[in-house]
Amino acid sequence: MKKGMFITFEGADGCGKTTQMKLLAEYLEKKGIDVVLTREPGAKGLGEKVREILLNYEGPVSDRCESFLFLADRAQNIDIIVNPAVEEGKIVLCDRHIDSTVAYQGYGRGLDIERINMLNNIATNGRKPDLTFVFDIDIETSMARVGKEKDRMERAGKDFHNRVRQGYLELAKQEPQRIKVIDAAKSIEEIHAEVIKIFEEYCF
Ligand code: TYD
Repeated sequence: MKKGMFITFEGADGCGKTTQMKLLAEYLEKKGIDVVLTREPGAKGLGEKVREILLNYEGPVSDRCESFLFLADRAQNIDIIVNPAVEEGKIVLCDRHIDSTVAYQGYGRGLDIERINMLNNIATNGRKPDLTFVFDIDIETSMARVGKEKDRMERAGKDFHNRVRQGYLELAKQEPQRIKVIDAAKSIEEIHAEVIKIFEEYCF
């Protein structure tokens, strides 16, 4: 099996990716594999402060400022958490990463995708996930799962979230080797089985 891997979990708010990330972590830990969990925004430490601003700040936030805050958190996550763990041979599972910025700030907010790719590349210093899961779900279901207590991003509206979804699907078409789309309307168990299958196909 390949050692030291970086796997990311992507999709709409409420798509169930965090649950699936935790289930994969349990599966790997049972096999005695060292796993590190992280997330964006909100990598442990400084990232938690950045997350607070991104999700709860009530004043106006410019689209470019928003992007730079996500990117700042990303640079910290890669340098302080992801790279050291991967180098030690651990499997790092990350809740959202580069594809979120392309989908949300690029397709969602309409910022130039080439520039976002360039900025992502600077924030990650060129590291890319080995494998990415996109949990695809229709907007009605995902918003119903999120419920009434919506954060700043979740309040962005239906058209915005539709563009985000299309963005993810487009990314998966462009990078089919790395990005695997999973139908997130299925049951938790069915999705978990699919995640394991894809993971094992990748590893062996
Ligand atoms: P979070 O509570 O982590 O959402 P979820 O539980 O659905 O993952 O909030 C993260 C929000 O930030 C989510 O709406 C997606 C958004 N986001 C971006 O817009 N751009 C980014 O680069 C990242 C990492 C997240």
